[in-house]
Amino acid sequence: MSGAPETKLAYTPEVAAATRDLYAKVANVVPEIEWPHFAPLIAEINRLKKERGAVILAHNYQTPEIFHCVADFVGDSLQLAREAAKTDAKIIVQAGVHFMAETSKILSPDKTVLIPDLEAGCSLAASITGADVRLLKQKYPNLPVVTYVNTSADVKAESDITCTSSNAVAVVESIAKERGVDTVIFIPDKFLAQNVANQTMIKIIAWHGRCEVHERFTAEDIRRFKADHPGAIVLAHPECPADVVAECDFAGSTSAMTQYVIEKRPPRVVLLTECSMADNISAQHRDVEFLRPCNLCPHMKRITLAKILRSLQTMQFEVKVDPAVAERARAAVERMLAVGKPKPAVH
Ligand code: 13P
Ligand code: SF4
Repeated sequence: MSGAPETKLAYTPEVAAATRDLYAKVANVVPEIEWPHFAPLIAEINRLKKERGAVILAHNYQTPEIFHCVADFVGDSLQLAREAAKTDAKIIVQAGVHFMAETSKILSPDKTVLIPDLEAGCSLAASITGADVRLLKQKYPNLPVVTYVNTSADVKAESDITCTSSNAVAVVESIAKERGVDTVIFIPDKFLAQNVANQTMIKIIAWHGRCEVHERFTAEDIRRFKADHPGAIVLAHPECPADVVAECDFAGSTSAMTQYVIEKRPPRVVLLTECSMADNISAQHRDVEFLRPCNLCPHMKRITLAKILRSLQTMQFEVKVDPAVAERARAAVERMLAVGKPKPAVH
């Protein structure tokens, strides 16, 4: 393929007409001057994904022109994993980071899973290897391993069960009960591990991984914002340090924070998380004012409209997982997906 795809696309009157409704969705957060650059890419992505039978799964941290204008499904890690497991589409384009694409491939091994940029990683996933988990299991032979989904397939394959930020407490309690233990190994996020430990009686052995976006928020930030903006509500992701979670008004997964804002409509909100979250919510809820002490995730920001289009055009970059590793990892992810699901009635 020669040249960047966008150089061949023009903002014609037809493209302007075809994307007018989509612009209305993001007009609050995408300046009008930028639309002639985005619109031809959006029109072409939406045409090509239909032609190919592809779906685009986008995480809540994707930018508004991706999140609101080309995504078929949006959500937090758990919602995207559930969608990957049930979609009928032949091709999944993951607008998110590599571990999310791997999770989709693990759950849908017969589908083609594409990630628009192979370098879209995660500091948590990079903090631990399968060999590290094997050593932990040697050290604590009888304890179950609960693994945050922000990890590689190799690490998931060594685990008893995975979890996300939205079900971590329920997963820890369910595996401890099932195995009859009062302690579990929880990897790799040390802050999420502390935040889970604070909400349960189960003891936790943690790893030292940290999210490079959330570790930077401090309790002092919260006090300063509360002093400068009386009445502002502070929401935080549970990858933040424990004192931040203790001082915020609500902590939850990216979708749980979104839901909080939609339901409670606080007039002024501080979101201690990635910057696109506030943009994506405020695109649709213009009455809420977001104060912006956010941090960018450099990995999430590697995904752009131009790269999504190129991915659909060239079918790159295909995410593959060794079938033997995938089978073991799938058992851990499916075990997580079963937690919190109603049990079938017994007759
Ligand atoms: P969520 O599962 O809450 O969307 O979190 C994913 C993530 O990478 C947060 O940094
Ligand atoms: Fe990983 Fe943190 Fe980026 Fe989420 S925000 S993908 S945990 S580095």
